[in-house]
Order: sequence, then C-alpha cells, then structure tokens
Amino acid sequence: MRMGIRALPTIIQGGMGIGVSHWPLARTVSLRGQLGVVSGTALDAVFARRLQHGDPEGHLRRALDKLPMPGVAERVLDRYFIEGGKSPTTPYRAVPMPCVQPTSFHLELLVAANFVEVFLAKEGHQGLVGINYLRKIEPPTLPSLFGAMLAGVDVVLMGAGIPTTIPGILDRMAQGRSVELPLEVQEGECALMHFDPRAFCELRGGAMPSLQRPDFFAIVSYDSLATMLSRKATGRINGFVIEDFTAGGHNARPRGRMQLNDRGEPIFGPRDVADLAVFRELGVPFWLAGTRGHPDRVREAIEAGAQGVQIGTAFAFCAESAMTPDVKRRVHDAVLADRADVLTDPLASPAGLPFKIVQLDDTLSDPCLCEARPRYCDLGYFRHAYRREDGSIGWRCPAEPADDYVNRGGEVEDTVGRKCLCNGLIAAIGLPQMRNGGDEEPMLITAGQGLRDIARYIRSDGQCYTADEVIDDLLTGAVAARASA
Ligand SMILES: Cc1cc2nc3c(=O)[nH]c(=O)nc-3n(C[C@H](O)[C@H](O)[C@H](O)COP(=O)(O)O)c2cc1C
Repeated sequence: MRMGIRALPTIIQGGMGIGVSHWPLARTVSLRGQLGVVSGTALDAVFARRLQHGDPEGHLRRALDKLPMPGVAERVLDRYFIEGGKSPTTPYRAVPMPCVQPTSFHLELLVAANFVEVFLAKEGHQGLVGINYLRKIEPPTLPSLFGAMLAGVDVVLMGAGIPTTIPGILDRMAQGRSVELPLEVQEGECALMHFDPRAFCELRGGAMPSLQRPDFFAIVSYDSLATMLSRKATGRINGFVIEDFTAGGHNARPRGRMQLNDRGEPIFGPRDVADLAVFRELGVPFWLAGTRGHPDRVREAIEAGAQGVQIGTAFAFCAESAMTPDVKRRVHDAVLADRADVLTDPLASPAGLPFKIVQLDDTLSDPCLCEARPRYCDLGYFRHAYRREDGSIGWRCPAEPADDYVNRGGEVEDTVGRKCLCNGLIAAIGLPQMRNGGDEEPMLITAGQGLRDIARYIRSDGQCYTADEVIDDLLTGAVAARASA
C-alpha cells in the first residue's frame, strides 16, 4: 500500500463547483508544486456541454482517447460531440439525472468525464492533482471516483457531509473490488448503491488496470466531526481541511438553534470555531480554509500548526478559473469600487446548508430575477431520495416547482427561498441552458466573505491576475512562518 502523497503542499487550491476549478487551473497550481484540485461536482454535465461546444482545442478528445476501455469514448462522442459547436441558441442535450442505478451509458459518461478532467490536469508533469466531491451528492460518487482513479488522481477531497465510508471505498476500489455507498432514503433507512470496477472494465472488453489508492482529505468545520471520523472511518484519513464559516460555497450550519442577523444571514459565534488543539493531537496533517487569501493569514495558519491553507475565492476570479471573463471583470470592478458584497443565504441551497452568494446585478442574487425565473429541475444533482408509497425510490428537489415537490410528498415550506444551484452555477462558467428558444438560465456566483481581499491581486492594466501571482504572494507568508520558527 502507498504511504501517502510524496510532499505535502502548503497551498491547496480548493475544489470549486460547478466546474470553476477545471483542469487548466488545477494544472497550473500543480505545476507550482502545490495541490491543484479539480471539481468533480456535476462533471458529467460540464463535460457533455463542453463537447457540445465542439472541443475546439481537441483536449477532451485527446484525453478520451486514453481511456482504457474500448467503445466508451465513441459512445460518449456519438451522443454529445458537435463538430464546430452547437448554435448559441440551441439548448444543450440533456445528461441522465442522477439515480440509484445509473444506466450503462450514464456510468460510462461519469467514468469518462472524471477520467478526462484528472488526466488533463496531470498531463505532462509530476505534480499532485486532487478531485473534490460533495458528500451530499451521492449517486454519481462511485463511478466518478473510479474515473478519477483510472487517471491516477493523487488526493480525493470531500466535504458537505460526513464521508465515513469513503476511505474504505478507496481501499477496495484500488484493489479492483466492488464497492457500495449507502444512500439515505429516509431517516434511519439507507439503500445501497453498488459499483464493480472489474466488471465495468471486463464488460467493455478491457482488463482491470492496476490502481493506486489516492489520499483522502476530509473537509470538516468542527473538531468533533474530525474526532468521530478518525474513530469510525472505514479506512485511512490522510488529512483534514478545516473550513470555517467565511469560506465560499456551502458552509456548515451554526451549532444550536439558527439565529439570523438583520440581513437574514445565520449568526455564527465562538462555538462555530474549530478547536485546533484537537487537530494537533490527532496527528494528521491539516489545512485551514476560509479567508486565508493573504500572506499574513497563511503565516498564522502555519504558526497554529497547520500544514498550510486551502484557498478558493482568490483562485475563483483568476485568469485560469472557468468563471466567464465577464463575471470576473464585474466582480473585480465591484471589489475595486468597494461594492463587493457576499451574503450567507440560509435557504438558497437545496442541500439545506448555508450558501454564500455574491450580490451582483443580473444574477440569481437579485430577488426579482429569481422570482421571474420559472422553476425547472433538469440537472438534479441536489435532489433527495425518498420512499414512494409503492416502496420504490423517488427523487425530489426543494428548488423544483413547489407543486411537484409537494406531489412527491415534500413539505411546501421546504421550497421557500430555494434557488436552482445546478443551473445557476453551471451558467457562471459559460454553460447556461437555453430556454424558450434563446433565454439563458441566469447565473449564480459564490465566493467567500473575504472577497475584498482579492483587491491586492487585481491589476490596473485591465489584465486578469493569474494563479501564479496568487501562489507567489501567499508563499511569502509560508516563508515568513518557517523563518520565524
Ligand atoms: C466559487 C467557489 C465554489 C466552491 N465550490 C466548492 C465545492 O464544490 N466543494 C467544496 O468542497 N468547496 C467548494 N468551495 C470552497 C473552497 O473549496 C474553499 O474551501 C473555500 O473557498 C476557502 O475559503 P475562501 O473562499 O475564503 O478562500 C467553493 C468556493 C468557491 C469560491
């Protein structure tokens, strides 16, 4: 068995979904000797939509060509690739919705999409590449892990939930053994999702390749969760990312009864701050995340015993991220004009966790635009499983039309204030679905509370700052910490 990744990075470029931390960003970070992380969230949809743009530079097809199962690449290309790209007003062809038993084609798409993203991030160098998944999005997890491992992913990082079973799944998968992941169907009742890597390969005329077990880093907000995971995880946890409530994306709920401030945001207090002494005692390397995008914050993290930091926001708006140039420019302008505002919305996410939303015109942060958008659920990553009266498993999303949700046995109160994260986030990387012959799905942008800190990187010449510049700057904090030690 491998004894963990070669050299621990100081900077982890956090996984950012949907598709924000795509392979060009992760590769750039990895080339600098730090940990570049691609987002694994909704990667099947991102991949299928990119193929429908015609893959102009041929990267996706070059990587697909290396997939060691005959026929898979052809079937995926047949379904989604459009030479020269689709017309801008044509809707994207749908990908199958996540479910307990994906079709054979959907398994292939998930394996291929995850393989390609990691393959491209790792291509041509020896640096470390990780992939990030959300525990709350369960159905695609097993085939996605297999695709990423086929491409030699070095680290799997997982947050937004309790990933107790994932380390053991990585152990078994590396040995070519079949794996299972429990899916919560209702309180106290789970269905099992299965994936057999050997059968997957052999059914497609390939042999099971030898795989390395990647390291597993759990993303947690509380020391109690880390302690529990250290005792109960089904395999080895190689690191913890401790993400606080200022971080971009989803945040953990505050402890106790949720109180709101006058902007309607959850109030976090001292009880919501992880006790680093517990992590130091666990003896597992850890990284701090949340408003760490400044050399002084990096120095403080290392002085507190961390290996380094995980950074999202500063990388989300750099040249190599997948956010559209227009989004980056508008966010940079807002930061420079001291107008940048991030709201922690307790209701928006169908995952039921607080979610950070950048307040920007013409995005879903605008209540009028949100109200005007007819509700659709056609990507479905945040759907929850439930048991139907006939005993079968159904799926519902609190952000779908309220009537549909109630007809599926949900409570109408649960639909209030929900936003379609799937369509909103994928729109922010330039892949919005088209409705009614040409209306683009509005976008939703997330960033951390420290968004204004990116002012130090924004250039006066109008050029977008690069990931290299962020790394150069942040590493000065690490040098200072190690010099004073
Ligand atoms: C645009 C964006 C998307 C994110 N998406 C994810 C995600 O899909 N999974 C995840 O674990 N964390 C996600 N995060 C959190 C980052 O990985 C990272 O932990 C966090 O951004 C660190 O705090 P910072 O934003 O203050 O730098 C996201 C953050 C941003 C800014």
